[in-house]
Amino acid sequence: MLQWGRSSSLRRLERTFIEKVPEWKESKKKDTGELTVLLEEERTIPPKPHFTNKANIKDESIYESASKDPEKFWENFANQLYWFKKWNKVLEWNPPYARWFVGGRLNISYNCIDRHIHTGKRNKAALIWEGEPGEERCLTYWDLYREVNKFTNVLYNLGVRKGDVVTIYMPMIPELPIAMLACTRLGAIHSVVFGGFSAEALSDRINDAEAKLLITADGGYRRGNFLTLKHIADEALQKTPTIKNVIVVRRGNFPVKMKEGRDHWYHELMQDAPSYYRPEPMDSEDILYILYTSGTTGKPKGIIHTTGGYLTGVYATTKWVFDLKDDDVYWCTADIGWVTGHSYIVYGLLALGATVIMYEGAPDWPERDRFWAIIEKYGVTIFYTAPTAIRAFMKWGEELPKKHNLSSLRLLGTVGEPINPEAWMWYYKNIGQERCPIVDTWWQTETGMILITPLPGLTTLKPGSATKPFPGIIADVLDEKGNSISVGGGYLAIKKPWPAMLRGIYKDLDRYVKQYWSKWSKDIYFTGDGVKRDEDGYFWLLGRVDDVMNVAGHRISTMEVESALISHPIVAESAVVGIFHEIKGQAIVAFVILKEGNKPSLEKEEELKEHVVKKIGKIARPEKIIFTPELPKTRSGKIMRRLLRDIAESRVLGDVTTLADPGIIEELKKKYEGKE
Ligand code: PRX
Repeated sequence: MLQWGRSSSLRRLERTFIEKVPEWKESKKKDTGELTVLLEEERTIPPKPHFTNKANIKDESIYESASKDPEKFWENFANQLYWFKKWNKVLEWNPPYARWFVGGRLNISYNCIDRHIHTGKRNKAALIWEGEPGEERCLTYWDLYREVNKFTNVLYNLGVRKGDVVTIYMPMIPELPIAMLACTRLGAIHSVVFGGFSAEALSDRINDAEAKLLITADGGYRRGNFLTLKHIADEALQKTPTIKNVIVVRRGNFPVKMKEGRDHWYHELMQDAPSYYRPEPMDSEDILYILYTSGTTGKPKGIIHTTGGYLTGVYATTKWVFDLKDDDVYWCTADIGWVTGHSYIVYGLLALGATVIMYEGAPDWPERDRFWAIIEKYGVTIFYTAPTAIRAFMKWGEELPKKHNLSSLRLLGTVGEPINPEAWMWYYKNIGQERCPIVDTWWQTETGMILITPLPGLTTLKPGSATKPFPGIIADVLDEKGNSISVGGGYLAIKKPWPAMLRGIYKDLDRYVKQYWSKWSKDIYFTGDGVKRDEDGYFWLLGRVDDVMNVAGHRISTMEVESALISHPIVAESAVVGIFHEIKGQAIVAFVILKEGNKPSLEKEEELKEHVVKKIGKIARPEKIIFTPELPKTRSGKIMRRLLRDIAESRVLGDVTTLADPGIIEELKKKYEGKE
């Protein structure tokens, strides 16, 4: 029996989980208001001998040895990389500031490319790319070496130097990892902005990072449409004084406006670029990249990752979690604009010299079996995707994967949000054909690497559980006060530093401490996630406990959407909540108070939705907007989002006794149900 703590946000999470996931059931509600749940998901799937026999890791004792001496454990992986200069000390930990492999020097592009050229992988496929319209490109490690060297020279010739920030706003084409690797070769910091973000979101990120140069493309294909990236970038560039040069990759031969002196075609610059650039020996703690992600406030945070520890962490987890072998064909369906793509398309995989599939477009273009067609065509062996995609596949039916030969697959993975056991089983049966283990990997932009996950040759799987912390990771379930909960629900906390951990928030050190290292003490990392631990010590992730939504695996803060709405001239106030959505996990519902003189209408609802798209991007488009004259507030003026969520999910309402004006709830309910 799993006991729950009293935190209201955790209770809410649990309630949502129980109501929406049939395998979980509320058994008893105590008078104290505390909830007790029974874990009904009792299926277990032990590793199969055919997998374990060949697995990279098959000895349980590594958990114990790693936890006894985590530094030695990580050092062993660092030793498998190439260092120009070895470190003096594995870890310097002045909570909450960590430095890994202190004094060591290395270069990431050297580790991801040159090393493989020297060890017999020159002709191995590094990237196999497929465009949405169907084109194919294969880049061997030698091809990658040549392109990255040339492009590093291009960047250098345009004045980019070590420590400068380069923003990258691109579709999923090979030039994107080439650009990232070129930055690492000369020591520039890259900031990749997801190609689905709007002009405003892009200019905000460029300005926060004070980027010197932008790399973009004329556009990219998505669901049969051409996404006009350069056009969007042009709008952003009107407000970005730090950008001196823009490099544009020609993807689709679409007409674009090139600004004389500022904009340059990638292919023209590459033509005469020298073929070698000496890789810069970077300090282990030099910044590798900034990646913006949503937090609890409206302003996205620039998460900082550094060089030596990050590469060690993603290298180790790629090797063990994905059980990566030399002849694997690995495909992760994420966009490189998110951390999953950084760590598990580009850096972890190339550091291991793997063959990586990259696909530009949508899963349902031109037909809903595109992913299965790609797996069959290239003989994909490892497939890593998101629960939101799996739920869509489920809806589309099992006939589609059946049309294809998926027998090359040997391992499946999921990431980004909790996976309900039903979707897990569907994935296991229909895609993995009950042959492939599934690694449900929990991690974050901040953690840089997978932290909670099965090891596929070792771990007995439980559908819906991310199972156990990776060796060397000390994770715990804590209550509000920081007491450890051995069996039951609480907050997920990490109690020891790990090599790929974030080193800060760009230009906002206070927020780094406040957000992640202040909930209990400054040596315990607060993840912002709720979790429960079962009798076997398995972790069951429940979602965020703060005001961060997870829409189709994308992190969006309620505040960010509220700020976007309030920036529209007709909006006086707004409150945004994430509600349960069958496919996307969560969907955005906005409650909006219009300024005097404005009447609610369907046109206004559409206009506001479009306004949010313009401010942030399509991923943040509200599913529904409810116009209201008031919002439920406590007497101290705090918006009661819990009640709004209840209304939006049409649940029995929680406690309304602290409301300043209880009448408002009835009014809102009527509005939501469309009675008014
Ligand atoms: O809530 C957790 C959820 O995604 C959040 C991190 O989002 P982001 O930084 O965008 O990174 C996503 C890809 C690593 C986490 O705080 N999350 C991620 N993976 C899982 C998950 N929730 C449950 N199970 C997972 N496997």
